[in-house]
Amino acid sequence: MSVEITLTSTEVRARFLDFYVSKGHVKVPSSSLVPYNDPTVLLTTAGMQQMIPYFLGRETPPAIRLTSAQKCFRTTDIDIVGNQRTLTFFEMLGNFSVGDYFKREAISYAWEFLTQVVGLPADRLHPTVHPADDESPVYWHEIAGFPDEAIVRLEDNWWGPPGASGPCGPDSEIYYDRGVEHGCGRADCKPGCDCERFLEIWNLVFMQFYQDLEGKRTPLPRKNIDTGMGLERLTMVIQGKESVFDTDMFRAVIDHFAGLSNTVYGRDVRTDTSLRVIADHARALVFLAADGVLPSNEGRGYIFRRILRRAVRHGKLLGFDKPFLSVAADVVIALMGDHYTELRQQRDRIVEILNLEERKFGQTLTTGLNLLNQLLDELRAQRHTVIPGEAVFRLYDTHGFPVELTQEIAAEQGFTIDTAGFEQAMQRQQERSRSFNTFVQAQDDTALTEIFKRVGATEFTGYQGITGSGHVVGLVVDGQEVESISAPQQALVILDSTPFYAESGGQIGDRGDILASMGVFQVQDTRRPLKGFIVHYGQLHEGHLRVGERVQMDVVEQRRADTMRNHSATHLLHKALRDMLGTQVEQRGSLVEPERLRFDFTSPRALGKEDIAQLDAQINRWIRANFPVHTNIMPIKDALSTGAMALFGEKYDDLVRVVSMGSSTELCGGTHCRSTGEIGLYVTVQETSIAAGIRRIEALTGREAEAYLRERSRQVETLAERLQVAPDGVVGRVEQLMQELAQARRQVAQFQREGAVRQAEEVAAHAQHIADIAVVATTVDAPDDKVLREMGDMVRNRLQQTAVVVLASTFDERVSIQVSVDAKLTKRGLHAGKIAATVGERLGGKGGGRPESAQGGGKNRAELGAALDLVFRFVKEHLVEA
Ligand code: ALA
Repeated sequence: MSVEITLTSTEVRARFLDFYVSKGHVKVPSSSLVPYNDPTVLLTTAGMQQMIPYFLGRETPPAIRLTSAQKCFRTTDIDIVGNQRTLTFFEMLGNFSVGDYFKREAISYAWEFLTQVVGLPADRLHPTVHPADDESPVYWHEIAGFPDEAIVRLEDNWWGPPGASGPCGPDSEIYYDRGVEHGCGRADCKPGCDCERFLEIWNLVFMQFYQDLEGKRTPLPRKNIDTGMGLERLTMVIQGKESVFDTDMFRAVIDHFAGLSNTVYGRDVRTDTSLRVIADHARALVFLAADGVLPSNEGRGYIFRRILRRAVRHGKLLGFDKPFLSVAADVVIALMGDHYTELRQQRDRIVEILNLEERKFGQTLTTGLNLLNQLLDELRAQRHTVIPGEAVFRLYDTHGFPVELTQEIAAEQGFTIDTAGFEQAMQRQQERSRSFNTFVQAQDDTALTEIFKRVGATEFTGYQGITGSGHVVGLVVDGQEVESISAPQQALVILDSTPFYAESGGQIGDRGDILASMGVFQVQDTRRPLKGFIVHYGQLHEGHLRVGERVQMDVVEQRRADTMRNHSATHLLHKALRDMLGTQVEQRGSLVEPERLRFDFTSPRALGKEDIAQLDAQINRWIRANFPVHTNIMPIKDALSTGAMALFGEKYDDLVRVVSMGSSTELCGGTHCRSTGEIGLYVTVQETSIAAGIRRIEALTGREAEAYLRERSRQVETLAERLQVAPDGVVGRVEQLMQELAQARRQVAQFQREGAVRQAEEVAAHAQHIADIAVVATTVDAPDDKVLREMGDMVRNRLQQTAVVVLASTFDERVSIQVSVDAKLTKRGLHAGKIAATVGERLGGKGGGRPESAQGGGKNRAELGAALDLVFRFVKEHLVEA
């Protein structure tokens, strides 16, 4: 039976809200997906979330009857989005009573809305209740005429709390009967059965209790009502669609991307899955971005990143080789922007965030996929089916390739991953980085503060040189001050004067040795826990060390020299950026290490290849000019009046150190080269965005820059050798090869088409005839599902009669089948989906689809003949005479 009226999703939403307003409710806007002031949940998962303080009696509601359409996000099923039903982002329609009406009205309004306002047939609706709830069945009887035995009791009818603690209570859920054809066929099939027949559409929660962190329940101050109905599901039922993805809320997105990838939605399980993933994830990303969620590696930022990556991967499966999410965003915004006006307002920002992250991930993905495929090939050759945990970890840690993806791809190709091994590798890594950090952090500052009070600031001699001598004035072990240490103790050493630079201003701390008459202390890091107070962290390697002893100090020279090159180069980079982009450039962070430098800055725009070339050229010109580096101590106001660059938001002393080289002048406490020529060489290796309006440059100097350029040129030489051309000819040769490859691919496609046509003719000529129809069930040679489907169409076109065509082909080590049934025959008892299911099952797999077209398959190739025979049997048994 089909439903008479057809409403759009926008109309459904409006009718719901208007209906509850007509029942005295006040309409409240959806709250943000990022829960306000509620640390117990990551994202908003239900309409009741903004009502919690009212239910708990902690805040006064704007009215005691409220209604909303709430943006919701559920993360538990992210990995299975792609089937017909599951969504991450959805809208929840709800009505709420804060200590006002209770069960009777909640049931009565819901019934009136479903049957009167949106006109769902009463005989399709089935209420369920909690077994301990004796009141609701009485109301369901009075209001809607359900006899007691028609009301299903389910233990599951309990809702909440939404986080670790909060309001909860029994509920009454309303199910919609989609018809026996969707069911499992069992005699006791009823609401709550896990088949596809009864669909839960509305949950009426009787919020009566508060559940604390231990699970203890106490009654709430008043009894409340909280209801929730997914707009997408309701729309699907009203519009009589098979799936939420067939409703007007998604079809535009699906059709758009089907068009873009040259597929038709509903033909092929694999492309359908990808289209649905994109349709769901695009909506989710747009709404998350609009509510201020940015991609990151933790919390909700990680959810954002994870679904964006999943969407991109499915885009790749559909063959998109260019970024497509911003297009998806525009389609979503066009669909939803009227009701959610924030989407239109923030369109540019949303698109920028998506573009950026998509591009970044595109690179990661290409590298990671190549590596993973190589790995799978190797494992396959060795007949292994488990990917070692260490390998999964390397992909993740070194190449940024998400573990979920490795898992998903592995599963698709019949592999599993060694999760325990992965976790061990992860843990080992964390321990490695933690052991030294905890040692550093575990040092209680009290002992250090005591020493500082006694001995005062440390004299820093490291601007002049990297060696020196002085006295031990304090030793700390495990947070306690001690008089002496012996090998191999870890300790903190404080000296009266030191050439060791303590980490600050982005420049990392020095390493080196402290040599005593009877011991050698290896400095692993140098820090400044209190202003002017330098502390050496490390381990005594030999002998003893005592407070009061005289020691020699020796900073590791190469490391310090490389660091200085990077620090001076950072100043030149800062200046060159300001010269090029203007004074809007402000330093936002920097890291100066021996191996590289990293500089974060505000920028009016991204930098192109040309900009980078220009930047590098300028900095190298300044290096060759060999400007001397001058340092001066002067009052802060004098420094600022000469135009020295200072850090935004930083507090400076009255007297500051000013470092200048060429036209660059900066307030800085770091160590620098004596002249810019010592930097040797500068090269930018990466320019990226790290947040809206903030860019990051990573660069190399000196030895590292040289090694980097040499490696680049070696790669070109290797390529040239492989391509058998001179290095200058590499680009031309690659372009030529790519053209040839494209040409060859076209030819292969052409041969495949011709082969398909020949086979189709052959197969059609050998069709069998059962009653008045033609039946084909045979094996063909097709490279993939798409061609197999096209061959099915060709066979049908060549047959003069109404027909059932089942074609099977083996690829990727499994048998795939495509079933098509003429429309006329679907009314005569033949259903493509059921034929596919029968055949698929025999092949040890699955099958299904629509009455006219379906697909399936399995791995059991030995059964292929028998499986195809089942088609003839099926037709004979089910075909009804015309
Ligand atoms: N809070 C209830 C739910 O989310 C209505 O299902």
